[in-house]
Amino acid sequence: MRDDSYGRRRTPGPALDQHWTFHRQGTHLMANANQTPSQNPTTRPRISFLGCGYLGATYAICFAELGYEVVGYDVDTAKIESFASGTVPFHEPGLPELLKKNLESGRLRFTTDVQAVADFADVHFICVGTPQRKGEHGADLSYIEAAVVDLAKHLTRKVLIVGKSTVPVGTASWVQELLDRHAPEGLGVEVGWSPEFLQESNAMHDVLRPNRIVYASQSAWASQLLKDVHRGILELAAVEDREVPVVETDLATAELVKVAANAFLATKISFINAMADLSEAAGADVADLAKAIGYDQRIGNKFLRAGIGFGGGCLPKDIRALSARAGELGVGESFRFLDEVDGINTRRRTHTVRAVANLVGRPPGPNGPDLSGVRVAYLGATFKPDTDDIRDSPALDIARRLRAARADVVVYDPEGLENAQAAAPELSFVKTLAEAVAGADVVCAMVPWEEFRILDPEALGRQVAERRLLDGMNAYDPEQWRKHGWTYQGIGR
Ligand code: UDX
Repeated sequence: MRDDSYGRRRTPGPALDQHWTFHRQGTHLMANANQTPSQNPTTRPRISFLGCGYLGATYAICFAELGYEVVGYDVDTAKIESFASGTVPFHEPGLPELLKKNLESGRLRFTTDVQAVADFADVHFICVGTPQRKGEHGADLSYIEAAVVDLAKHLTRKVLIVGKSTVPVGTASWVQELLDRHAPEGLGVEVGWSPEFLQESNAMHDVLRPNRIVYASQSAWASQLLKDVHRGILELAAVEDREVPVVETDLATAELVKVAANAFLATKISFINAMADLSEAAGADVADLAKAIGYDQRIGNKFLRAGIGFGGGCLPKDIRALSARAGELGVGESFRFLDEVDGINTRRRTHTVRAVANLVGRPPGPNGPDLSGVRVAYLGATFKPDTDDIRDSPALDIARRLRAARADVVVYDPEGLENAQAAAPELSFVKTLAEAVAGADVVCAMVPWEEFRILDPEALGRQVAERRLLDGMNAYDPEQWRKHGWTYQGIGR
């Protein structure tokens, strides 16, 4: 029996009652108190986010904040228990406060019960990981397959399944086939796609106030549902006198938008890193160069910071997956440049090790440098600041390479120590900046955390054994440091 535009049962199904009690009246009172946009329940589909990593969890929390009734689902019991008890199991600024607030509002739940999720939501977002396949460049879609097949078997009404995970183009059609095969016959479950563009460390902002919304559907019904799902974002924008452009497109384009954006960003970074090599060879300063070309609005000044290269859970794997997929589709030649973008990026790491070796007067031999007896104060382990994420972190990889060259590497990172220590137990880790720099022969400042960017050359100089600085972030004014007796080495300057 159905009674609303989303085909929900008139009375909540037993699973819903059993697992969560949404106190509807309380919810709406709470929503008003939060000053979220209008709470018209007829235009608010219920939403699930399948996969509660950085992506799914942030979306679940933010969509509850926007006034939707949301459930976050994951197969990882520890993760779900953590969110349900009000603890975000990773570092993301602002998210813990928003989690607590929305758990209290009653709009946000977390569960490992797929039947309850199937009964509850009108729209299911797939947010599971798509890591690089072991030993290959393509993406591993097994988590998507598992999530979709599992959910499909438990569905009892027509719903919309929307992909958010970053995938090779063509995945949406395959997901539709999986649903056609595994969902109960005759439900007519549909697939849509809506890529996300959130940056870790700015994730909440990127979800609540995105610079664009992109989605794709296969029918007017699904298109309307996607409009309803994104209404909260547009209403918030209207309240704040902003506009959020919406691009509605086909499934293949929506899938490609994400990888195209990341490939473009990666290309920009590798371009400026190639210019860094040239600047170094020619005695130029890549930081000034980036500033000067960035004033041209066609180029723009973002993502032009030369340094130790890009890392993280997206850019590196996404360019490899795009190149691999292009090859499968017979247009691999056009994407060979991405292999070079990747190559320039990974070569930053050997380049930086060489720079440290030269700085301490141990130029590399044919088998790399011998840094035995060199105490390195190593500042930063995460793939960028304001996160505890160390996935494909250039900083951590370079630290390990220095250690492999027998340096005594003492690592400090404001949030990433625990993850870094688990991944690289051969390094020494300390809990404060002061411990890291005490008696150091060289300071390697690798990740532009605020705490590192504001370092005072004179005060720091009094703590180290030798005033040598490798500025892997190109964040300091070389003249300032040289004035205080430091031997300064940046990247490409
Ligand atoms: C990226 C995309 O920006 C985001 O839109 C997408 O949704 C996911 O992938 P994220 O992985 O969080 O986001 O990191 P991002 O801020 O893009 O940085 C990626 C890497 O590039 C970091 O290692 C960063 O240090 C490096 N970087 C960034 C540079 O080396 N130079 C720059 O100028 C900018």
